[in-house]
Amino acid sequence: MVQYYRIALLMSTLSRNAFNCHEILLLSIIWPTLSVPIEHPALPAVPEPAGLPGLEGGEAFITGICPRDQAAALSASQLLRQRILSQVEAEHYRTLRTDKRRLDWLAGRAAAKAALRLYFRKTLGHDLDPATLEVAANAQGGPVCSRPDAPAFSISHCAAGGLCVAGFSGRLIGADWETVTPRTRGLARLFTREGELPVDREASPLELTRLWAVKEAVLKLLGLGLACSPRDVEAVLALGAQPIRFHGAARARWESLGSPRVSIAMTDDTDSVAAVAYTGD
Ligand SMILES: CC(C)(COP(=O)(O)OP(=O)(O)OC[C@H]1O[C@@H](n2cnc3c(N)ncnc32)[C@H](O)[C@@H]1OP(=O)(O)O)[C@@H](O)C(=O)NCCC(=O)NCCS
Repeated sequence: MVQYYRIALLMSTLSRNAFNCHEILLLSIIWPTLSVPIEHPALPAVPEPAGLPGLEGGEAFITGICPRDQAAALSASQLLRQRILSQVEAEHYRTLRTDKRRLDWLAGRAAAKAALRLYFRKTLGHDLDPATLEVAANAQGGPVCSRPDAPAFSISHCAAGGLCVAGFSGRLIGADWETVTPRTRGLARLFTREGELPVDREASPLELTRLWAVKEAVLKLLGLGLACSPRDVEAVLALGAQPIRFHGAARARWESLGSPRVSIAMTDDTDSVAAVAYTGD
């Protein structure tokens, strides 16, 4: 750009006046700089897609993540965003109001592209350009991909970053990634049913976060989100005591899907819990 400016400046000077000794002097000084090759900023590399360690889906599902620092790098670099977002996604990004929403949205989209790239690598045998895997929202807010052969997938974001889980073989999928935070007993009662909490002691923050994450993952699998009460999904703290039981609006939706078996996979560390709900075994 600077080079073009120099050339334009010189041409306009030369066209306005006849050559004189000053201009010949000027030309002799700046000509060497005009012949310097134009430098373009190097295109940033698209990060290699990675899954969430400890949450292996085997034949059932595949995960993709975008850690928070990667989302922050995306938010700071328009060039990097151009590498992974489609035109429509880039325009949508510009409409998001707060820094937090922009970061969450980017983390979720980057995680979705990671999961979908890994999915297509496995099913098609080759890599796809992340910008061609356009992810939009359906009327309920759930994610959909522009490719007709894309699997069902689910997005979640928390302080650790974005997570996306894609299902194999036509499975329905719901995912939730939650930071472990203390929840009061009063709040816990709002989203739990009798029998889901221990009676002889307080449930720990980790137990409550696990319970919440399972319910939210199941509600996303059903395509309902929090439009439906989490109390309509009955899980138990001991995950061995599956399957999930459905009530109210969740039951109606589950039955409309043919009452599929819903399985849960989960991983947690001291800071966060990730839960995946998927149909089939
Ligand atoms: C789905 C929902 C529970 C997620 O809440 P959250 O804990 O803030 O967010 P998470 O990070 O775990 O998940 C967010 C992602 O869930 C997905 N999602 C949203 N609505 C969904 C639905 N109905 N079904 C499946 N997935 C949904 C989206 O991909 C969203 O990320 P994105 O908007 O960046 O693409 C919530 O957004 C919701 O219920 N939305 C429906 C609208 C509604 O009725 N809200 C009432 C709130 S009390």
